[in-house]
Amino acid sequence: MFLENCEVISNIQIAGNTYLMKVKGNKSIDKTKAGQFFMLQVKSGMTFLRRPISIHYVNKEKSELEFYYEVKGQGTKDLAEVKIGEEINIQGPLGNGFDTHIENKNIVVVGGGMGMAPMKLLIEELLKNKNKVVFIAGGRNSNALEILSNFNLNNVNTLITSDDGSIGTKGRVDTKLKEVLKNEKFDLVYTCGPEKMMEAVGRISEENDVECQVSLEARMACGVKACVGCSIKTKAGMKKVCHDGPVFDSKIIVD
Ligand code: FES
Repeated sequence: MFLENCEVISNIQIAGNTYLMKVKGNKSIDKTKAGQFFMLQVKSGMTFLRRPISIHYVNKEKSELEFYYEVKGQGTKDLAEVKIGEEINIQGPLGNGFDTHIENKNIVVVGGGMGMAPMKLLIEELLKNKNKVVFIAGGRNSNALEILSNFNLNNVNTLITSDDGSIGTKGRVDTKLKEVLKNEKFDLVYTCGPEKMMEAVGRISEENDVECQVSLEARMACGVKACVGCSIKTKAGMKKVCHDGPVFDSKIIVD
């Protein structure tokens, strides 16, 4: 885990309240894995607390880190106002990311809404290890899925769903997952998105005897196991999302 000041090289609105920030990284570039997060602090912001933001992508050639985030409160509002050339302080990478030490497997990646944040790097890590990836991406509407234009999906079978049918198939990702798992044998499912969606994805995976890794979201104050802000009850006892997760085996959270 590192603490470093990074220069912001772009910070653009993607759609609605969502933004993509790119920063020049240094120490953390080689250590960062999909599913991990950083605590970001704006130097000139009104709030003192750091904000936990998932890593969206690591561009090793350019030494850049990408963060896809949603403006929800003062901390993320401060983040959205950072200009090119300014510095932010980042602490990370933190937490346990997705386990991608697998090769030549058949994988489904399911992302919903802001759960798209860790998927760009996850898909790249999976493809690098010669896995075959089906990506089910869902959101409320086409705006919620605008971030997909920032993905590299050339070698990925991408299935898009939206609640209002403005992009892809009208419907939900869990319905699409059922279809996909019915038609072909898969080894693993990775998911991130709204809680209810991940519960459904975990349950469907279990019913089909497929292992599933879920990336949970929790309120985080410290990000480093020093408070109790992110504790959750699981079948394996109390867990701290920032330290034990944010990625967990779905079996410990699904009833
Ligand atoms: Fe403080 Fe996890 S955020 S312990």
